[in-house]
Amino acid sequence: MGSEAVRVVVRCRPMNDREKALSCKMVLSMDVHHCQCFIEKPGATDEPPKQFTFDGTYFIDQTTEQMYNEIAYPLVEGVTEGYNGTIFAYGQTGSGKSFTMQGVSEPATQKGVIPRAFEHIFESIQVENTKFLVRASYLEIYNEEIRDLLGSDTKQRMEVRL
Ligand SMILES: Nc1ncnc2c1ncn2[C@@H]1O[C@H](COP(=O)(O)OP(=O)(O)O)[C@@H](O)[C@H]1O
Ligand SMILES: [Mg+2]
Repeated sequence: MGSEAVRVVVRCRPMNDREKALSCKMVLSMDVHHCQCFIEKPGATDEPPKQFTFDGTYFIDQTTEQMYNEIAYPLVEGVTEGYNGTIFAYGQTGSGKSFTMQGVSEPATQKGVIPRAFEHIFESIQVENTKFLVRASYLEIYNEEIRDLLGSDTKQRMEVRL
């Protein structure tokens, strides 16, 4: 893992039932030790796969726990030391952003990045003689519209200011 300020990692989710029922073919493979992913063009067996390198690669059998420990843990640890940190999930609908960030409670290894970060932060501020203030907000940006998911009226659109 590099020491750049911005790191980009990629996670591949398993095929869903619909994709399995359609007998979809997996075109992505990964060399997770070298953080590389390979995309092959279906039907073009003579063409070499397109190759991309990231700061981290997570394939279908890797868990959010592993991802958190390798990627998010050091970032959240930095936040407890006073550095700013952002974890941002990007991808098309159905690609696994909510699964990674929010996660599921069973199995415990797939608990999301957000509850893991909360546990991490609250554990590290449980020290005697110091009071901490933790602020949280929860916003959704969808189709260029922003909604406050903790607000009383979640239909209300918030203004975008530049
Ligand atoms: N790594 C994964 N392992 C197992 N199931 C996954 C994984 N990532 C996503 N899924 C499943 O795929 C579906 C779509 O994922 P989701 O997180 O809702 O996508 P997004 O938030 O990007 O639209 C969900 O049913 C989710 O449970
Ligand atoms: Mg989602």
